[in-house]
Amino acid sequence: EKDGYDWFMRKEIFEQPHAVADSLLGRRDAEGRLQLDEMRLADEELRDIDKIIIIACGTSFYAGMVAKYAIEHWTRTPVEVELASEFRYRDPIIDSTTLVVAISQSGETADTLQAIMHARAQRAKVLAICNTNGASIPRESDAVIYTHAGPEIGVASTKGLLTQLVACYLLALYIAQVKGTRYGDEIEDIMAQLEAMPDHIRTVLDGAEQVYELARAHVGTRSVLFLGRHAGYPVALEGALKLKELAYIHAEGFAAGELKHGPIALIEDGLPVLCVVPPRGRDHLHEKMLSGIQEVRARGARTICLAEAGDTSIEPYADHLIRLPKVPVLLQPLVACVPLQLFACELATAMGHDVDQPRNLAKSVTVE
Ligand code: BG6
Repeated sequence: EKDGYDWFMRKEIFEQPHAVADSLLGRRDAEGRLQLDEMRLADEELRDIDKIIIIACGTSFYAGMVAKYAIEHWTRTPVEVELASEFRYRDPIIDSTTLVVAISQSGETADTLQAIMHARAQRAKVLAICNTNGASIPRESDAVIYTHAGPEIGVASTKGLLTQLVACYLLALYIAQVKGTRYGDEIEDIMAQLEAMPDHIRTVLDGAEQVYELARAHVGTRSVLFLGRHAGYPVALEGALKLKELAYIHAEGFAAGELKHGPIALIEDGLPVLCVVPPRGRDHLHEKMLSGIQEVRARGARTICLAEAGDTSIEPYADHLIRLPKVPVLLQPLVACVPLQLFACELATAMGHDVDQPRNLAKSVTVE
């Protein structure tokens, strides 16, 4: 039941600290090494993998985009991310050293299921990341990482996504452990950072009222843009998707670096632009993002910035500032998605929409 919340979606957003903690539970053996229960792929098989293709739909696809950044960085294995509905129609190059990772909350999405059948027919290994025990997709896969989000009722995925992200990080670290591309103590450090995430997510949720107020002030808005870079780019796409799905508002996510190649033409006076600011200190990502924000603001955009606590450099360019806990860039999606969920949920409900059952959408789409 809804436990006093008005919508399942809101309840599920607030369950995320718990869901993320559950998804991390029991993943290490007595020596602290990662273990994944239903991995079922031998270490030798994993070591032979020379390419990973992630396939998924909707919100799960964005988890896959984040996974690409983490897997490539930690394991040096090339990763492609592809929409399941496109995958088999382009004659993809797959063989027995390809690992296909299918991400699906429900485990029943027909596009994803058909894509893995196609991959299996070409002898790829298939690993499913799924929230539903015994669903079709994990049944058709060689290995599974189950997320432990608990049942997700709201059609728009929230805790499903965050736990998929956890599973993706675990998979990346597991491959790194098997392939030896990262040392044990590094893996332990990252695991410790992951284990701190439930508290960080709680901190973000404690600030919900500020996000709600901002959301209510946007009733009547016709269009919102979302900008991000690196792991913040899929977050921007997800923020835009949530707004489309729930509030039926035109929303687009862009990679901030791509702005100058086209989307900047869309900026006009008063247009809300939501910016996912990367943490400071790596690869000039932060500075680059800042200059993108200045560009849109100079053209009249109203900027809503998600930025880490203590980042004062953003203050002159943010019309509204939502603070995020200080976390590594690769893990930032686990905290940055949350205000965007709250924003879309509150804006849609303020507009009188049913956020649990948005129009024209179904929780799992079992037709291609
Ligand atoms: C959609 C849902 O149609 O399926 C989305 O409305 C979801 O919220 C997508 O992200 C993929 O679903 P699944 O179960 O395969 O992760």
